[in-house]
Amino acid sequence: MLKGKHIILGITGSIAAYKAAYIIRGLVKKGAEVQVVITPSGKEFITPITLSALSSNPVISDFFSNRDGTWHSHVDLGLWADAMLVAPATASTIGKMANGIADNMLVTTYLSCKAPVFVAPAMDLDMFAHPTTQQNLERLRSFGNQIIEPATGELASHLVGKGRMEEPDKIIAVLEDFFERGTLLKGRKVLITAGPTYEKIDPVRFIGNYSSGKMGFALAEACAVSGAEVALVTGPVSLQIHHPNIRRVDVESAAEMHQACQEIFPTVDAAILCAAVADYRLDNPAKEKIKREKSGDLLLHLIPNPDIAASLGKVKKDNQVLVGFALETNDEFQHAAEKMERKNLDFIVLNSLRDTGAGFRCNTNKVSILMKNGERTDYPLKSKQEVADDIVKQLGSILNARI
Ligand code: CTP
Repeated sequence: MLKGKHIILGITGSIAAYKAAYIIRGLVKKGAEVQVVITPSGKEFITPITLSALSSNPVISDFFSNRDGTWHSHVDLGLWADAMLVAPATASTIGKMANGIADNMLVTTYLSCKAPVFVAPAMDLDMFAHPTTQQNLERLRSFGNQIIEPATGELASHLVGKGRMEEPDKIIAVLEDFFERGTLLKGRKVLITAGPTYEKIDPVRFIGNYSSGKMGFALAEACAVSGAEVALVTGPVSLQIHHPNIRRVDVESAAEMHQACQEIFPTVDAAILCAAVADYRLDNPAKEKIKREKSGDLLLHLIPNPDIAASLGKVKKDNQVLVGFALETNDEFQHAAEKMERKNLDFIVLNSLRDTGAGFRCNTNKVSILMKNGERTDYPLKSKQEVADDIVKQLGSILNARI
């Protein structure tokens, strides 16, 4: 998977810099081409001679070559890369990357890099735990960068805690896994619905639900990272997309979501319906703000919304895969199996509100996947990103088995 891949390895000033030598060796052994970019303080910990001998490439540290004045183009380097890995990444470099402080070649290259970026932090436990570092890492995550979490163990300070850079073979495995996943949905088009729908009561009020959209957005990212072109039809959420292969279509009501899905579905290989669509809407939303009556109840007359999943299930072609979700509170497996049948789904992802950490607004989820042929896989509690990866693996294996 790493054969022929162009990897920029950014090295910063940390005791763990010696491990970068093992990373280069491992990457080169697997056929990757490595270009090292090192910060000035990185050179205090490991010499460019060692790094250039291992990578068979000159090591870049300055904006210009001191010898002949050649400009080192961080722009060209950023475009050359299939991935950039910063390992070890100090708190200082993470802070600079998070805030665009481009005062060295490594950070300028990072800002020019269009390829996916991986960051392997290395620092003392208290530095790692500090809210500044955590906020900077969160910011990098929000840019779509992947943080390779440090391990817990003995640190340079002889204290024991979380902050030790992950071992080189594990870091290399993360990159391999990334490139392997990039082929799973290559050339595929996927439609994803996410978030809640809002059904108008009057110009200032609506009927909504607690869906945050996190699961649907994680799925969109996971499909895009796996090589798919994604259309993400989302209800009102406060989330951002990061991957360039995701086209976001914002809608508000179930009717708008339905229309967008009907237009897009004929053009895709698969649809994952993750949105919490309101089952009912007002038959006649008020044109003006409803005023409080002095006495008496307010009655709202609700009519059914279209079932988007069922309507796509009706027109689904043999080569298309339709995936639904079921959020249940009781008789979970029975309800999920009925929904799969009723909506003509290929598989359904079940989560139960009885499981702690599953469902709305959490960052985690605990799911079971039920297949049309009756097979069932139960997964442990995982982050929504990891759950998305599991779902994408299932989807990929069905689509690829059909070729
Ligand atoms: N769904 C949909 N359109 C709707 C309702 C649901 O596309 N109007 C999709 C959801 O995105 C999900 C699946 O259908 O993939 C199941 O949603 P859920 O709300 O659990 O099912 P309902 O059919 O609404 O059944 P109930 O509310 O009775 O549990």
